[in-house]
Amino acid sequence: MLDVLTQKVHDEARQGEAFAPFINDPAQYKKKFYIESYGCQMNFSDSEIVASILQDVGFGATRDCSEADLILLNTCSIREKAEQTVRKRLTEFRKIKVARPGLLVGVLGCMAERIKAKLLEEEQLVDIVVGPDAYRSLPALLEEAEGGQKAVNVLLSREETYADISPVRLNSNGVSGFVSIMRGCNNMCTFCVVPFTRGRERSRNAFSIIKECQDLFDRGYKEVTLLGQNVDSYYFTPETTDDTGRDTVTFASLLEMVANISPLLRVRFSTSHPKDITDDVLHVIAKYENICNYIHLPVQSGSTRILQMMNRTYTREWYLAKIDRIREIIPGCGISSDIIAGFCTETEEDHQSTLSLMEYSGYDLSYMFFYSERPGTLAQRRYKDDVPEMIKKRRLQEIVDLQNRLSRKSNEKDLGKTFGVLIEGNSKKSDQDWMGRTSHNKVIVFSKTGADCSKGDYVKVKVTDCTKATLLGEIV
Ligand code: SAH
Ligand code: SF4
Ligand code: F3S
Repeated sequence: MLDVLTQKVHDEARQGEAFAPFINDPAQYKKKFYIESYGCQMNFSDSEIVASILQDVGFGATRDCSEADLILLNTCSIREKAEQTVRKRLTEFRKIKVARPGLLVGVLGCMAERIKAKLLEEEQLVDIVVGPDAYRSLPALLEEAEGGQKAVNVLLSREETYADISPVRLNSNGVSGFVSIMRGCNNMCTFCVVPFTRGRERSRNAFSIIKECQDLFDRGYKEVTLLGQNVDSYYFTPETTDDTGRDTVTFASLLEMVANISPLLRVRFSTSHPKDITDDVLHVIAKYENICNYIHLPVQSGSTRILQMMNRTYTREWYLAKIDRIREIIPGCGISSDIIAGFCTETEEDHQSTLSLMEYSGYDLSYMFFYSERPGTLAQRRYKDDVPEMIKKRRLQEIVDLQNRLSRKSNEKDLGKTFGVLIEGNSKKSDQDWMGRTSHNKVIVFSKTGADCSKGDYVKVKVTDCTKATLLGEIV
């Protein structure tokens, strides 16, 4: 049971963590907004774009929702539970609104896009509904709402990438920054709402990406994570070839451009779709010391039959060959995955295939979910959600148990080794310890005593002990 809980915490941390922003200088703004974000890293990144748009019209961020003039929830629709969390939160905000009628409440993000204007009927306290491609219209919508009208914009766009908007870093540790390189998704995995909530895939202008990464580095950041639902299909064609001397920028060339900003800037990226990650990308990772040796390569299922029903467009064998290729080109590369238990028609044999694939892949980490049917998706329209919840949960538990064993094994393999670590801040448990990450994305905790270093420094740390989730070490 404890492991289910651990998994829940994981799940929440990645897909449902709420946060309140950091205030720059609240006195300089005439009004205050409070924003909470749910869902994937891209949604968190969008909140930083929203913060920038709001700042331009005189709204400063606050961490305290009780003093806000505007409360925003940037929402996620990926699983039913994600939406339930938001509904619960809205109920809590209703109390504040009753006490302060002038307060405006807005729902942004994927749930806004999925439910659209109907949200206004369902959630009476909501004043504004804005989809992921419509954040530029927020100031106009706010004006409407201030005039007492309900305001909605859920238009999706084929072009919008917010390329020119400089995000206001919310709740950042000042060491790692997230940079969105594309939006939307064209893949149509049958279980997934993202293509409906985020629209068509489009790549952001490469120069604006490099500029943003360079700017982060100039401001002292030491790590950037390039974000997209499917980063390996990044593809940008400059209007004139003489800008870069290149005709097109692929993900491999973009990675290389970002890596070249400085050897002191670490580069990470997420997420890779197994069908699109190329040898070119793997070779670029191997070539640059500062591109982290870590790939998040979600498999979803180990059964070819289920993969086909999910429209993942690869087979079990194809995926395993990709794992071999990664290990060949980037020895020691960290690999993690997303796994769904109990997709439509999944048999015990399919489930066993997932377990054996996990074992072969030797994942360092996985994000594991049971299948949650989403309205409007291809799976909902085509297939019956026919695996009983009890069985889904039992299979998920077996997947979680196996992953825990694999994570522990992977950590034990690192005992005695020394890694280059970027210090991200104090460890969660003690301000006497530092917390950082290795290139292969493992969290490592080590004592501050006897070492003169600070947040944002690179240090060498020798692994002396481990749990299934964390390495423990000492500076050498
Ligand atoms: N673009 C990424 C995934 C984004 S969603 C990719 O293709 O890998 C993050 C994860 O949520 C997915 O990888 C999947 O494992 C999980 N997920 C998506 N839809 C789900 C659903 N309907 N039920 C359960 N898990 C789901
Ligand atoms: Fe969803 Fe598939 Fe796109 Fe990932 S690749 S966002 S799972 S449709
Ligand atoms: Fe959720 Fe939307 Fe991200 S559905 S996972 S916030 S793209």
